[in-house]
Amino acid sequence: MKHLLTVADLDRGTATELLDEAERFEQALLGREVKKLPTLRGRTVMTVFYENSTRTRVSFEVAGKWMSADVINVSASSSSVSKGESLRDTALTLHAAGADALIVRHPASGAAHQIARWMEQWAREENRVAPSIINAGDGTHQHPTQALLDALTLRQRLGDIEGKRIVLVGDILHSRVARSNVSLLDTLGAEVVLVAPRTLLPVGVDAWPCRVSSSLDAELPGADAVMMLRVQAERMNGGFFPSAREYSINYGLSERRLALLGDDAVVLHPGPMLRGMEIASAVADSPKSAVLQQVSNGVHMRMAVLFRLLVGQEETV
Ligand code: CP
Repeated sequence: MKHLLTVADLDRGTATELLDEAERFEQALLGREVKKLPTLRGRTVMTVFYENSTRTRVSFEVAGKWMSADVINVSASSSSVSKGESLRDTALTLHAAGADALIVRHPASGAAHQIARWMEQWAREENRVAPSIINAGDGTHQHPTQALLDALTLRQRLGDIEGKRIVLVGDILHSRVARSNVSLLDTLGAEVVLVAPRTLLPVGVDAWPCRVSSSLDAELPGADAVMMLRVQAERMNGGFFPSAREYSINYGLSERRLALLGDDAVVLHPGPMLRGMEIASAVADSPKSAVLQQVSNGVHMRMAVLFRLLVGQEETV
């Protein structure tokens, strides 16, 4: 595996190996005062973010540092991107400066794929080795490491994901997290249900490997997990229908709705959460919530991905 651009490139075996590898990293670091493994010593990893991020950028940085890689963070606003430098020139420049892996977040769907194509073409022409490209979120398209860390969290809380019913709620239309999770959960054998207002469902959703419902109350009693999604106002050009109040009434995870879930069911949210609208604070902070476990798993999952791309699948921790 050279790049990680979409979960569609992961078959069940590869995805399971990555989940297992993440758990090995978690075990290898458990109880250690000094969290430092020599795994990526001498390798250079760069994050290049054209959109804001807390969880993804920080967890990639921590993952790289815990494996002794040199980690450089580049943000669009403080780099020469703000002077008009192209995406291609930026990527080539960072590789020329020493990047073995580029972790890219960009508002355009397909940006990470395009960078990977440019890098492969450049490497062929120059007879050099292309850097690995990791998609850290491209527009409304894909966020593969988020889906992997969600799968890891579900597996830890529920056991085998096969046959489990996972309900995704909210702004499916703009969500790369939803697209990535529907695809990966289907690969892992889960039953996926989407709950959303029609206005926040994409055209063509009926062809996705999942069922669509408009009633959250009806779907919660049989759910093993409910994954709340962020309403992405920044992708709505100022318009949002239904209103925030209607959304909260019909699709928010309130304390009343939490009580409809079974005893062992789990609540996920990729963050950042809009407390009070998407999810009640008492629910986000309840024992059923796996939100902070998702964040911790994000570090171990990203260690596993960096390890697989930069060291290879023959090795394990
Ligand atoms: N879940 C997620 O991608 O969060 P950030 O935008 O904070 O990285």
